[in-house]
This record gives sequence, structure tokens and C-alpha cells, in this order.
Amino acid sequence: MKVFQVEGQWTRDNLRLSSHPDPQPGPGEVRVALRAAALNYRDLLVPQHGYGSRMQALPLIMLSDGAGVVDAVGPGVSTVAAGDRVCPLFFQNWSGGPANAERLGRSLGCEIDGTMADYRVLPASGVAAAPAHLDDLQAATLPTAAVTAWRALISEGRIAPGDKVLVQGTGGVSLFALQFAKLAGAEVIVTSSSDDKLARARALGADATINYRTQPEWGRRAREIAGAEGVDHIVEVGGENTLGQSLRAIRPGGTISMIGVLSGGRMDVSLGLVVTRHVRLQGITVGSRDDFLAMSAAIARHRLQPVVDRVFSFSELHAALDYLSTGQHFGKICMGI
Ligand SMILES: NC(=O)c1ccc[n+]([C@@H]2O[C@H](COP(=O)([O-])OP(=O)(O)OC[C@H]3O[C@@H](n4cnc5c(N)ncnc54)[C@H](OP(=O)(O)O)[C@@H]3O)[C@@H](O)[C@H]2O)c1
Repeated sequence: MKVFQVEGQWTRDNLRLSSHPDPQPGPGEVRVALRAAALNYRDLLVPQHGYGSRMQALPLIMLSDGAGVVDAVGPGVSTVAAGDRVCPLFFQNWSGGPANAERLGRSLGCEIDGTMADYRVLPASGVAAAPAHLDDLQAATLPTAAVTAWRALISEGRIAPGDKVLVQGTGGVSLFALQFAKLAGAEVIVTSSSDDKLARARALGADATINYRTQPEWGRRAREIAGAEGVDHIVEVGGENTLGQSLRAIRPGGTISMIGVLSGGRMDVSLGLVVTRHVRLQGITVGSRDDFLAMSAAIARHRLQPVVDRVFSFSELHAALDYLSTGQHFGKICMGI
């Protein structure tokens, strides 16, 4: 089978199209014939050994998102059958409950091989049915970005109708957060560096938008838009250059879901605001199988359409990563397999 893997040394230059023997499922395992994969921001960091000593020794098959069809099952598997269309789950050991080290210890495309392959053999518990109304590319966008947004706003955030939610940027996690917040009946403010992208966010349901380039003090503006005491819940992907503004926008008792540190991971902010506003800073790293199942049910019920920006062919992984790094995309970048 063909794979796209980092081999030899941890650099982008050593990201290569290669081949492995076709894997066979053992007891309790299934083989997924992958049909699509999707990129996440972290896939820019993986080839540079960005997640350190916890990463699998080389070679490492890239990417954590995918969708495909089960084409073989090992002895003892009763929950999944050949022909089922599934997504491999980001965390292979996290079925449900709160995060702990064991549950966070086995993610695709980092601690173990990822989805950029013709086949992956995984435990039957490590895959879940894809929503039937989605095509393979759309289904491939779900395991990482969508589950992250779901856990932030729904399982952990427990947002309610009428809540004011702010999402930063228009990348994969943020557009799922916009879509889930609208499903939950929230009012959503979206920030972006681009007026064109903000117009597209409004077409997706955003109630208000702010260009964070032309309005670097967007926190005050967001607070004005939210009215009352400020924003109830913020999906924080920027980190260093955005948390200060988020602390201006958040209402007393509000939640900031810390999801990414795109602008840097070190901080010089007024921590007193966290204290005096009773802010809940909630770290989020994707989510569990239970999160995926609840989210898939909601996606199916509402026939939600993930936003796919652009599709590359299997051999074009370098070009897809280059495109991701430009930040031009709106939503998800996918790979055909
Ligand atoms: N913790 C987790 O479980 C988890 C899971 C997935 C992702 N993440 C993290 O979350 C972040 C986003 O991931 P992603 O895959 O959604 O990325 P992505 O699709 O590449 O989206 C990035 C977008 O974020 C926006 N952005 C960049 N810098 C910004 C800034 N300083 N302020 C506000 N917005 C900014 C830009 O939107 P505009 O072009 O509209 O300005 C950019 O297009 C990354 O740090 C990633 O590692 C975390």
C-alpha cells in the first residue's frame, strides 16, 4: 500500500511517498480502506518533531484525520462489519469520561501512525461510523477539528440558547465552532484577518464579525456587540496575541476554551482580569469517542455540511501543507486517497 510518511530525519524535506506491505487485522481489529484524509494545523508541526519525545519513532505516517470503509475484520469483532463507512478516532484510547494521561496518550499521526495511507488497521473501538449524508472528504474533516469544537462548546462548555460565543479566525476548528454554536441557538461573533472571509462567515450564520487586523483592540468591540456583561464563551486559537483581547471581551463568569496558540505560547496579560472576572480558562485537546458519537448524531440530525476549502490528491501532500501554512483557507483542506 502507499503511504506518506516522515522517514530518516525529522524535517519537511523527509516527508515522502513510500510503500508498506498491506496490513491484516488481528483479533479485535478492523482494516479501514481509507478514501479521504484532512489536514490540521498540527500537521505543519509533526514533520519537525513538534510534539517531542512522545512521538512515534520514525518512520511516521502523517495526518490524524480520515474516512474510509472497513474492508476486513479480525476475530472477535462484533461492533463493526465489512462495508461500514467509518472515521478513525483521533485518540485511540479515549472512549469517554474526563481527560487523563492514558486517554491522551495515543493519537493518530503523532504517537502512532496516521491516516495518509491506503489502509490502517485499528482496534474496532478506534473507529466510529461516519454520518451517512456526508461524502468521504467531508467525513474526513470530523475527528480532530470538529470534535475539538464540539468538546469546547458542548460537552465541556455546555452553551445554551441565547449565549454569546466568539470564535477566532476561520480555520477548521473555528468554523465547526461557529456551526455548532448556531445549532445550539447561540449568537456568534467571528473574528478574521480578511473581510472576504468574514462575509463568508456571515453567510454560514455568524451574527457579527470583526476584522482583527483593522481592529487590533477587537476585545472591546466584541464586548460592545455582546452587550450585557460581555461574551459568554470564547474559542481561543490565537494564544499569545489574542488572550489579552479575549479577557477584555469575556463576561464575568465566562469561559475561554484554550484550543491553540497560533500566535505564540507565551503570555504577558493582565491575569488579574482572570481573577476578578471569575473567568474559567478551559484547556481542550480534541475529545473522546463519546464526543465523536454525540457530535455525529447532531451533524446527521441537522444535516450539517462541513466546510471543505480545497482538495488535493494523495501525492500532493507537500503542496497541501504549503497551502495550509499560507492561512488562505476557509475551513478544511482535504486529501483524496
Ligand atoms: N487543542 C486541540 O484539541 C486542537 C485541535 C485542533 C486544533 N488545535 C489548534 O487550534 C489552532 C487552530 O487549528 P486549525 O486546525 O483550526 O487551524 P487552521 O485551520 O490552520 O486555522 C487557522 C486560522 O486561524 C486564524 N488565526 C491565525 N492567527 C490568528 C490570530 N493571531 N488571531 C486570530 N485568528 C488567527 C486564521 O483565520 P483568518 O484567516 O480568518 O484570520 C487562520 O486561517 C491551532 O493552534 C491548532 O494547533 C487544537
